[in-house]
Amino acid sequence: MTASLRILRARVLLPSGEMAVTSVRTQAGKIAEVGDDLSPVPDEQVIEADGLTLLPGVIAPQVHFREPGLEHKEDLSTASRACAKGGVTSFLEMPNTLPVTVTQELLDQKLAIAAQKSIVNYGFFIGATPENLPDLNTANPTCGIKLFMGSAHGALLVDDQAATEAIFASGTRLIAVHAENQSRILARRQQFAGSDDPTVHSQIQDNQAALMATQFALSLSKKYQRRLHILHLSTAEEAELLRQDKPTWVTAEVTPQHLLLNTDAYYQIGSLAQMNPPLRSQHDNDVLWQALRDGVIDFIATDHAPHTLEEKAKPYPDCPSGMPGVETSLPLMLTQSSQGRCTVAQVANWMSTAVAKAYEIPNKGAIAPGYDADLVLVDLSAYRPVERGDLETKCRWSPFEGLMLTGWPVVTIVGGHIVFDHGKIDGSHRGQALTFGT
Ligand code: DOR
Repeated sequence: MTASLRILRARVLLPSGEMAVTSVRTQAGKIAEVGDDLSPVPDEQVIEADGLTLLPGVIAPQVHFREPGLEHKEDLSTASRACAKGGVTSFLEMPNTLPVTVTQELLDQKLAIAAQKSIVNYGFFIGATPENLPDLNTANPTCGIKLFMGSAHGALLVDDQAATEAIFASGTRLIAVHAENQSRILARRQQFAGSDDPTVHSQIQDNQAALMATQFALSLSKKYQRRLHILHLSTAEEAELLRQDKPTWVTAEVTPQHLLLNTDAYYQIGSLAQMNPPLRSQHDNDVLWQALRDGVIDFIATDHAPHTLEEKAKPYPDCPSGMPGVETSLPLMLTQSSQGRCTVAQVANWMSTAVAKAYEIPNKGAIAPGYDADLVLVDLSAYRPVERGDLETKCRWSPFEGLMLTGWPVVTIVGGHIVFDHGKIDGSHRGQALTFGT
């Protein structure tokens, strides 16, 4: 670990939400000082950050990093390198690997792989099945229970109402739901059977399917006063529901994909635009943006879900759902701020501070003495397009290829250690296992 690092004259986002041109010293993995006249200490590393903006490192609260079992798509080394490049200093990973993460033993296995390979900090969800209730409430450390209410196969699908209710009724820890109603999806799949056109994906897994599941999860959360997090909210209807009725113990997230892309994307990039829950309409984009700005939606998730180009090239419905996102999400959102759609402080809140708060991750999400030195320096003065050849993710494609973005990370710091510096990744650092209040 770098003993001490001094970042000079950056535009620093302060906890108040104000920006100030000042300096930051990190020591032994923590932020030690923030101020204008930091005196040098022996052997410290110095970053001249004139013109750059310093933000708390991104905490990506929903990623699919594929290890163990699906390493041909991604692994914890390529994924965490992609994180470093994208300003992501911590991630929360989903249980749909091979095997699925549904017991303490399997969670421990993942933590051990991450300790060996991940250059950023990590946490893992425990996956709900209809049968693993005891594991769900005792597995540790975990950011929470992942519950696929629909749009999953195998052990991780919990589409039975009684089994779902049993999970809400037992225990107190956070339940993060993929809210799509499986019976409605199955019925509509019949209706559209035979079509190999990926545009039908958004019609099969329609707004109603998402709304039905979100309504059910919300009703159970209220009945049992159970901490609920709604993953990748995608429809105007769900946003309006939460606007009317959102208990204090419920949070929700949205992806840049659901804010910035809609069903028009199928005509440009075909099945690369296919994800679950699917892309919706421009109207949904607009309502989701408003809900995010109003605090109805709490934070942003990348939902990084890589598949190879060969897999994505299969005809619908054999092509898998999902898109990569950890490298592009921060510049995508900062580009929106540069266009006046939100502020830089809002982006940092949605991509770091609010996530740390929701998952009760101590000492993360702010630039202040005592906080962990997980930081990203971004350049808000230059524009660069998203290019396949620049990407570190093993799948090496993005739904945003060609888009000109600003706010690309220049330096990423994890626990006081520089893991990404002007295009170069230092793969020698190892991140730490996150701890959670849940
Ligand atoms: O589009 C998706 N892809 N949604 C999910 O919920 C899973 C993910 C994946 O793992 O590929």
